[in-house]
Amino acid sequence: MYPFKGQQQSNQLPGQSEQIAAAARIIREGGTVAFPTETVYGLGADATNPDAIRKIYEIKQRPFDHPLIVHIASISDLAYWAEAIPETAYDLADRFWPGPLTLILQRSHRISDCITGGQDTVGLRIPAHPTALALLKALGPEKALAAPSANRFGRISPTSAAHVRQELGNSADMILDGGDCEVGLESTIISFHEHEPLILRPGGITPAELAEALGRPIAVSTRCTIRSSGSLPAHYAPSTPLRLFPATELWRQATALAAQNLRILAITWSSTGKPQAANQSFEQFRMPADPIQYGKQLYANLRRFDQAGFDYLLVETPPNDFQWLAITDRLQRASFHFSDNQGEQL
Ligand code: TXA
Ligand code: MG
Repeated sequence: MYPFKGQQQSNQLPGQSEQIAAAARIIREGGTVAFPTETVYGLGADATNPDAIRKIYEIKQRPFDHPLIVHIASISDLAYWAEAIPETAYDLADRFWPGPLTLILQRSHRISDCITGGQDTVGLRIPAHPTALALLKALGPEKALAAPSANRFGRISPTSAAHVRQELGNSADMILDGGDCEVGLESTIISFHEHEPLILRPGGITPAELAEALGRPIAVSTRCTIRSSGSLPAHYAPSTPLRLFPATELWRQATALAAQNLRILAITWSSTGKPQAANQSFEQFRMPADPIQYGKQLYANLRRFDQAGFDYLLVETPPNDFQWLAITDRLQRASFHFSDNQGEQL
């Protein structure tokens, strides 16, 4: 179920060492580099250089008070960047790092206000991607990469170097290509209030995996009180209106909209077939019924569908199951813009 740890040597591209050295030089000189992680691509800058971090906000067009995740190379660096670290945080780091898990901890004095948006906590993680790890290693001790996802604010996160280019053009000083992201959805974010872990953003590590590691269930926050842009309702969104429906309602909506000459894509995961009568009127794309495969393909597919000229993307509601939590969360946020009063049937 947890395929990332220990595999971080598998997909470093040949001939990358020169590029990694160049990327490290750019970061040290205060530039920005988009780099692959196992979740999504990040837009990185020197975590100790406020001017470099400001460039990230400008490139992303992200409000300055939304905190960034700091990527580190080793668990032994944790106490350098954070303080009063609960035992549980170490337990989770030992179990899941390198991997798609971000821990929100009390920040040390080395973390500047422009990373945390003025909060007294910092998000930290070790990414499980050979290119990201090689870059962190090349940066050396007492350095780290502050990096949000490498998309414009509110848009779909990039899961390939080509997607980063689509999002940011040439505005990053360099884009490191590490292939397609293994996980395809952002990391799971966990906070610790009075040492109790709480999931702020569901992601690559499922609540079941976390509960197993902790030996007890873990709470999931639906209304996040800590400021977190991933917890804003509208996020991870394509430009094409996207709506979520259970299969039967989805066919009804798709048929009705198609009858108005609108171009509709029905995105399903279950084996429920399209009704015969609707056969010609709208297109259907079947996503994998397995949440790991679905998560891996979701953003790349949404990006592709967004460019294909559909009037609506109608997505089948995912199963009501913890394994699908991160997917449901992202789809709900992607659908938020379009939830009410759209005129037609929707
Ligand atoms: O998988 C990931 O987490 C990717 C890769 C690049 O590591 N990064 C990512 O970063 O998704 P970003 O900035 O797009 O999303 C990070 C989320 C934001 O919603 C931010 O508000 C939240 O983490 N966050 C960061 N620091 C926080 C803090 N101290 N307290 C609460 N939320 C925090
Ligand atoms: Mg993001």
